[in-house]
Amino acid sequence: MSVDTITINRQRGIFEGQASFWLFGYGSLLYKAGFPYLEYRPATIRGWSRRFWQGSHDHRGTPEAPGRVATLVEEPGAVCTGMAYRITPEVLEPLDVREKNGYLRFTTTLMFADGDTAQGLVYIATEDNDAFLGPAPAMEMARHIAQSSGPSGPNRDYLVGVAAALGRLGAEDAHVANLMQALQEVETGSETRRAGRSPARPGTV
Ligand code: SIN
Repeated sequence: MSVDTITINRQRGIFEGQASFWLFGYGSLLYKAGFPYLEYRPATIRGWSRRFWQGSHDHRGTPEAPGRVATLVEEPGAVCTGMAYRITPEVLEPLDVREKNGYLRFTTTLMFADGDTAQGLVYIATEDNDAFLGPAPAMEMARHIAQSSGPSGPNRDYLVGVAAALGRLGAEDAHVANLMQALQEVETGSETRRAGRSPARPGTV
């Protein structure tokens, strides 16, 4: 599947006829809306796990040096916490542009803290998109994130933004916590010290 999903998402037409509907955000949409919304509520979805397995050519990396950002992968029994925004259909056009690097519109069931549920929209980059990177060891992913940057800024700020937003929600996410720990080791050089090697001098990589 080609990386640019704008046309596919418009053809999917999900939620376009409704006056307002919920959007579930779990990555950049979790910590930075950047679009108008009618209300927002923390929410969870079941059966999906957040994974930093998607390449970013347009926000936190470039086509030549993609960054590593979040997508969702199916995992029976998993619970993913995010932020739900009630939006109007006009917001779909800029959202499709923002999420164009491999993310497709899907519908999912959102659960709110008070027990309410609602059908909502979620953007997921499935493994058949050309920018999909897939799994890697946490240290490898953290090094990749630490060295990547794109038009929206350093890739590490995206990871830190997701982790901080989850912290504000009181939500646990072992994958994000492992990546944060690994990023800290990369950034403080404790990774190289622990391995008994000298840290690389600036400019030698
Ligand atoms: C999302 O945040 O819900 C989708 C992925 C992203 O924009 O980072």
